[in-house]
Amino acid sequence: MGCGRPKSLVGFEPEPHWFVPALNGLIETLDRRPERVFLVAAELKHQGNGWQTRDSLDELAQLVVSAGGQVVGEGIQKVESLHPATFIGRGKAEEFAAWCRQHQVDTVVFDDELTPAQHRNLEKVFQCKVLDRTALILEIFAQRARTREGKLQVELAQLQHLLPRLTRYWGHLSRQRGGIGVRGGEGESQLEMDRRRVQDRIARIERELEEVRRQRTLQRVARKRHDYPLASLVGYTNAGKSTLLNALTGAGVLVEDKLFATLDPTTRRLRLPTRQEVLISDTVGFIRKLPHQLVEAFKATLEQVTEADLLLHVVDISHPLAEEQMAAVDAVLKEIRADQKPTLVVFNKVDRLPRQEVPARFYEKHPHAVAISALTGQGLPTLLEEIARHLRPARQLVRVAIPHERADLIARLHSVGQVVERRYYPRTARFKVHLYPQHLEEFAPYIVEGPEPVKTGPDPSPAPPAPTPVAGR
Ligand code: GTP
Repeated sequence: MGCGRPKSLVGFEPEPHWFVPALNGLIETLDRRPERVFLVAAELKHQGNGWQTRDSLDELAQLVVSAGGQVVGEGIQKVESLHPATFIGRGKAEEFAAWCRQHQVDTVVFDDELTPAQHRNLEKVFQCKVLDRTALILEIFAQRARTREGKLQVELAQLQHLLPRLTRYWGHLSRQRGGIGVRGGEGESQLEMDRRRVQDRIARIERELEEVRRQRTLQRVARKRHDYPLASLVGYTNAGKSTLLNALTGAGVLVEDKLFATLDPTTRRLRLPTRQEVLISDTVGFIRKLPHQLVEAFKATLEQVTEADLLLHVVDISHPLAEEQMAAVDAVLKEIRADQKPTLVVFNKVDRLPRQEVPARFYEKHPHAVAISALTGQGLPTLLEEIARHLRPARQLVRVAIPHERADLIARLHSVGQVVERRYYPRTARFKVHLYPQHLEEFAPYIVEGPEPVKTGPDPSPAPPAPTPVAGR
């Protein structure tokens, strides 16, 4: 008896994209039943933060379910330090392997990143597919990516993770073809060919990504021209970002109770109660131990975050590890150098709390946080007010003179600006007007005075009347 046979390793015919279906079939067996998964964690004797091995394994189990697998068992081993060859001690690994064989386990998932050598050795011990947390997260990302760029980025990250571990796949292939132990010349050259294919594919994806990014830059330039302020939703996976974006904009963004339901940022325009328009974008959910190559790969996608004028850090306040999850998000923000951005903390899911009250200790650290329920709508008006307060652009006071025949421009000026005074002259209409910075350029040829910052407070006093009508402008 052995482990179940994953679909990805059966009927393999080498062709240029073989490794893509191989990777995407990680959680589905040949007969299309969910893969039976065994989880393994090493508990370091001196674990430093609030995350316990138990929490981590629970999260890993959720990740497996998100990927479509079924958890049938788990094993934890306490260790002083991680074993360089087998991650956990060899004896314990063999014990777990025996259990797995008895219970027809298809895949063993380790709750940390394994080195290529550990991968190889553990596959030999377990005699079935071994994945680490990184590969599992990459797999989920691969299933969820929706835009072309997202798909390419994940595939690239997967291939980069795969390349040093290709022998593992070769191990499987040799088993499929001629049984365990078949090695030698053919195997070595096959492996070389496989490596070259992966490298070629990586090069091709990089070229494609280049092109996709060029197009995205054009879109970004378009956004900049309109110059709406951008608020970006960030938060731990499952915090409720997509639900909030839906609630705020009716955007119809995918909402699922699965981890990483969102992979590609979805940006929507939002009109605030102050009538100011802003952009609001959803981003990929962050997670502890987010594979580094994924952060790298997604840096471009996370541009939405680095370019944002305001971050809305959405927290599932009903989660027992809410504080640790916030810290994990902060760590990723630091990694992408977005930790200095103006940030509004949003405590979500208050409907789940006893008496719907956020414990005081959270406000001690985040006194300006807003408590909401994206599900019931509670607190959303306050949130919108806070967003408006953070994104309120400084208006500028200018005087413009527009020729009468440009009725279109005069109408536009009234729609985008706040006109506080108007005078008519033989050839031009003159206005004293408050304009947002994004509209200054449009009216630049007609500005005759200003801009100067608008003083805060009630409507400014009218300017003294112009002494004499001017000719021309
Ligand atoms: P990722 O895509 O993994 O990053 O998740 P996300 O942060 O976008 O979370 P999503 O909006 O998909 O919500 C996750 C789950 O939480 C869904 O089942 C939502 O219905 C639920 N949820 C979101 N907001 C609330 C809330 O305010 N109250 C309750 N009770 N559930 C909520």
